[in-house]
This record gives sequence, C-alpha cells and structure tokens, in this order.
Amino acid sequence: MNKGRFLMLLVCCQLFLLACDSQPSGKDEIDVKVENLLAQMTLEEKVGQMNQYNGFYDVTGPAPAEGDAKNKYEHIKSGWVGSMLNVRGANEVRKMQSLAVDSSRLGIPMIFGFDVIHGHKTLSPIPLAEAASWDLEAIEKSARIAAIEASAEGINWTFAPMVDISRDARWGRVMEGAGEDTYLGSRIGVARINGFQGDDLSAHNTIAACAKHFAGYGFAEAGMDYNTVDVGTVTLHNVIFPPFKAAIDEADVKTFMNSFNIINGIPATANKFLQRDILKGEWGFDGFVISDWSSGAEMIAHGYAKDLEHVAELATNGGSDMDMESYANIKHLVKLVEAGKVKESTIDEAVKRVLRVKYELGLFDDPFKYCDETREKELIYHADHMAAALDMAKRSIVLLKNENNVLPLAKEQKKIAVIGTLADDKDSPLGNWRMAGEDNTAISVLEGLDAYGVNYKYAEGAELVTGPTAFPVELEINTTDKSGFKEAIALAKQSEVVVMVLGEHGLHSGEGRGRANLGLPGVQQELLEAVYKVNKNIVLVLMNGRPLTITWADEHVPAIVEAWQLGTQTGHAVAQVLFGEYNPAGKLPMTFPRHVGQVPIYYNQYSSGRPGPKTEVFWPHYMDESEKPLYPFGYGLSYTKFDYTDLNINVLEGRKVEVSVVVTNSGDRVGEEVVQLYLHDKVASVVRPVKELKGFEKISLEPSQTYKVVFTLSEKELGFYNGQGEFVVEPGDFGVMVGTSSVEGLTSEFELK
Ligand code: GLC
Repeated sequence: MNKGRFLMLLVCCQLFLLACDSQPSGKDEIDVKVENLLAQMTLEEKVGQMNQYNGFYDVTGPAPAEGDAKNKYEHIKSGWVGSMLNVRGANEVRKMQSLAVDSSRLGIPMIFGFDVIHGHKTLSPIPLAEAASWDLEAIEKSARIAAIEASAEGINWTFAPMVDISRDARWGRVMEGAGEDTYLGSRIGVARINGFQGDDLSAHNTIAACAKHFAGYGFAEAGMDYNTVDVGTVTLHNVIFPPFKAAIDEADVKTFMNSFNIINGIPATANKFLQRDILKGEWGFDGFVISDWSSGAEMIAHGYAKDLEHVAELATNGGSDMDMESYANIKHLVKLVEAGKVKESTIDEAVKRVLRVKYELGLFDDPFKYCDETREKELIYHADHMAAALDMAKRSIVLLKNENNVLPLAKEQKKIAVIGTLADDKDSPLGNWRMAGEDNTAISVLEGLDAYGVNYKYAEGAELVTGPTAFPVELEINTTDKSGFKEAIALAKQSEVVVMVLGEHGLHSGEGRGRANLGLPGVQQELLEAVYKVNKNIVLVLMNGRPLTITWADEHVPAIVEAWQLGTQTGHAVAQVLFGEYNPAGKLPMTFPRHVGQVPIYYNQYSSGRPGPKTEVFWPHYMDESEKPLYPFGYGLSYTKFDYTDLNINVLEGRKVEVSVVVTNSGDRVGEEVVQLYLHDKVASVVRPVKELKGFEKISLEPSQTYKVVFTLSEKELGFYNGQGEFVVEPGDFGVMVGTSSVEGLTSEFELK
C-alpha cells in the first residue's frame, strides 16, 4: 500500500473513532435522556417519582389508614406516583399504567414491583431450600423462570433476592434467604439477580431485581422480626455486607431495599452511613433505594423521627430514594424543599436514579411492553416451568440420616404406611412468600406417591392447625386433639415401613412468624413417639421453613429426609427421592441446633480463649446440653459414598493459592457431591473464624469415577475487613479443609508470605 493511501486510511480510522466517541453509549445516552426529562419536571412531579403506592388488593404489611383508592387514582393521574406494588395481572397493570401515561402531564411510566420470591405462579422451593441445592445454575434458572412468569403478568421489578445472612432459626424469614454463610449467600444472591435481570434488562421477559434488606435485618435480637439489631463493624463488613456488595459488583443489581431495623442506633431507612457513605459512595451503586413497607413512618416509633414530615426529611437526606407506603414523601417533601430542609439537588439525585432504571427497563420506549395478555396465557404454568420446578425441588432435598440404608424404598415394598397431615396438604408445600401463587396448587406428597405408582395406606394422625390460615392471621396450632392417633398407630402396627411427613404449616415461617420453640409444632412429636412405639421402621420426611430441633428423631428414627417446602412440584420430588429415582445431594445452608437454647449457633464462629472440650468446667459449653449442633452447615448424605484423597496445596506467585483434592464415588450409584473448601486465617489483626467457606464445586460422579477438584484462591478469599472497614490481606499461616461438610474433610495448611 502506498504512503498516501495509508495516511488516508489512518485519517478515516481517526474520524470513525471520533464519531464513536460523540455517540453516547447506552448508559450515557440514558443519562442524557434522564437529564432532559428532569429539566422539564416540576418539584411535585419529581417527588411523585419518590412515591410508591400499594395496589388495591393485598397488603404485605400493616395497611395504613391513608391512601384510599380515590387519592391513589388522582395522584397517579397527576404523575405523583412513580411506582406501584402488588398490582395483579397484565390487564390491571395496563389500566394503572394508562392512568399514569395517558393522564399525567409528562406521561412518565410507573414501575410495577412485586414480591417474586420463589417463583411467581409456578412456585419453586422456598429460597432456603433452593440454597440447600448449592446449585447456582439451577437457582439462576429458577429465578429466570420466575421473571418470565412475572413479566408476563405485567411486573417489571421484583423485591428479591433477600440476601440477609441469618444465624437464628427462630427468625421467621430464614425461609426467604440463603442461610448463615456469607460466601454461599453471595454466590446465590448473584445467581438469583442474574436470573431475574438476564443479560438485557430492556427485554420484555427480564425484570429489575432488588437486593434486600439493607442492612443487618437477619441479626434481629432473639430472632424476633423487626427487633433491634446491634452488631459490630467487623461483623457488618465481613458477614452482612458482602452479599450486597456482590449484588452490585457481580450482578449489577438495579435496586436496593433498606430494612426495618436500626444499625448503630439509626434506622436503616435514614442511615447515611449505610446508604450514602457505603452503598452510593464507597460501592458506587447507581440504582435506587426503596424503603421497606412503611419503614419510613416506623422511624417515629423507633424514636428517631418526631412526625411524618421529619420522616420524609430524614429518609431522603439519609439516602432513601422511594417511599413504600409511608405517605411521607408525597405529603411533605415539597414543603421541606421550599423550607430548605431538603435540597432540591437531593431530590434530583434520587429522581435520576429512579428514571434511569425505568429507561433501562425500556418503559419509556413502550410502557405497556409487559402487559401482554397473550404471553400471560401462554407462559403461566408452562410445562417447561413445571419441569424446572421439579428439578429444583429434587436438588433442594437433603438426606440427613439413612441408617442401614433404609432408603431408598422399593416400589414393590408391601405395607407402606404414610402418616401425617402434611402428606395430604396441597398448600403448606408452597411455603410463605408465595404472593402470586395460588393456594392449594402444590402436588402433595400423597399425590406424588400416587403418580409414582406406590401402594400405601394413609392416616392423618392429627391436625396441624385449627382455625383460619389465610395470610396474615396468626395460626392456631393444634395442641390438644389427638383423636387421630388411634387410627395412625393401628396402621403403623400392620405396616412394614412408615413414612411420616411432619413439620411446619406453610405460613408457620416467613415475615412476622418468629418461633421461640424449634420443635415439631403441636402434637406431632407425641404422634411420632406413639408410632415409634409400635413400629421403629420410620422414614421421617420433614416439611419446614427453618431448621428444627428434631433431636429425638435423630436419636431414634432410622431415616430422615429434609424436604423443606418445595413448591408446586413437592410430591413428585419427594416420591422420586424416597424411591431412589433421584439420588439426593443437598447440603444444609444453615446449622440445625439440638436445642433452641443454643441459638444463634453457626459453623464459622470465632475461637474463644478456652477452646474445649476440657475436663473441668472452664470452657464454652452447657451443663445440660451438648455444645455441638445436631446437623452442621454443609452437611448432607447421599445414596452413594464419596471418598476424598490427595489434598494438595500450591502457593503461587501473586498471593494465589491452588488447592486440589481427588474425589471418588465409591458407591454403586451415580451421585452428586458438593465439594467444600474452608479456610482458617490462624493469626490476624482482628480474630478470624475457626473456618470459613471460601469455595465449593458441585460434581456428578458415576460409580468408581474419580475427579480432581481444583480451587484457586486469590486475595479476595484470603483477605478480610478490619475494624475500620478496610480490606486487608495479611501474611501468616492458614488452615485448609476440603470435604463433604463444614466438619468432615481432609486438612492441611500453608503459609502466605
Ligand atoms: C414487606 C417485606 C419486604 C417486602 C415488602 C413489600 O414488609 O419486609 O421484604 O418486599 O414488604 O411486600
């Protein structure tokens, strides 16, 4: 090529590059549109974007006296409502959206939020059960399907995932999270957000996700919902914050929800340290923050705000961008700006965050893109969704005990008894936070056994609850009526094996559903012991929303299966596991205590100065109960057996450490195993837990198959946050354990220079 042509080509390339620069990229283009729209908005219209109303149907919190339907309609038509929640169905969303888009001056579309927590209409297992699968691919797919069904019903924003870490099974909302561990909870939170948001938020079948509840909600004292939270900065930075930070760094989550509780004496909804210093400052979050249901107004009861006007001032200045059901912003923000108590620039920053998400969702291009009744009919309960829900359910089941290989049962087995009212319950398996799910739509355990072709006889044994069970009434647990025992005992007497389905009602966990006792509710324990007296060959199938103290069962019953609340496909999943069509591979995401007196109990504790056990009394223990858990974090059995050999550690340049182990399936059937890696930083500038999960890999092995698992640890896994919130990696000795649970594996150590 001659010189002249080469120079011409060079000039053309330069011009092309300049042209690219001048065309704003997606994000920049949206920012320009947001600025242009903001410049046209009145102060009232700006405040409207910071206001969310509940739909005219169900409430998911205390229904306020304010905001009657007439007000809401007028406010929507005036462009004073940026969002609604709990609006059901594409047709209803279309109606509400039309009011906003067609009647208001600027026609700004609303964003429609909903609690899409574990499925939408097709319900997947409760989140704690999904976490027990440790299967990130399946969990992401579960969220993807939830988004497809929710968006088919007009929803474009879910208030999920809940990424609150909790170590307290008394707290009703443990069912809604991913358990006690920060590393597992972070990975699962990212998977869920990726499932909801997909790789194109403007697509009609993806929805904005919401990392909640920021922050510390799972540490409510005494496991009582809404109760005081009082944690130190090391716990905040190393245990509570990481899943939220991962939601931003690894999944670009579009919204956050703050929480009901105080942190360092200041309610999260007005907490500048949380929302401005950390979230929007240090972490650079560019989405928006919504309050929890009336969490703003509740600052009055907390003793932090003197009235609703003060609520609006404190929440907005504290970094909360949108008000869910406190009616504080809509009533007081305009006056507060005029009085100079809230700067208009603060309002502008909040409104830009809200508008940006709406643009990214494509709502300005087509406000009705999610309102497609045809899609709604085609996609809700789609067969593919049912199949995925079944797969997710099977993967969530944890085998806790299997003495003498009582399980799997043989279909040909004669005289199978099934006892327990939960076996015939089509509603409890749906769990709490089923919002759009239709009651009584689960495949019950009995229906699953029927479909699997199992011959059995059933006896209820005893009612679990009496009285109304509709959300959100208190449940009346049956503690007196044992009239069904006689029939159950007679059936057990004449049976070879007894499958007992016991546990909690579907609404016996969830928000506002704390328990001070973690045993089998009602008369179930008595029923279990009465049956055991006449037939010891019991398979206990647990149906529950939280860890339970099933200590007696563990000491007596030969086989125990943790079946949680597995959603729409419960019965099929339970049948396929009980009869060996599916080999269970779940691992506990949360420690099971022996006794509620041990709570909070979790695996990654700090060492005391007197680690036991000791012969004399001066060490951490109880005089009347073991200090060990009933079942540890990461525990779960299989119908086959896995052997671990050849643990190797290789400290590489650049503070990377390669850890490998060989796993062999030494049993006679194919199985999956979750290989877990735990680290212990033995001496550090702030004490570190005796072990922490820092890696896991789920593998499937044929009988006799061997596989080498390799983990590469980087500074991210080796480091920690000190008391000043600084991330540090310190040289020194590290302990390593790689194995099948947090208490069983091969151990070694290495020195980090
Ligand atoms: C509830 C919950 C929150 C939920 C919101 C809307 O009180 O705390 O998780 O998303 O209100 O239903």
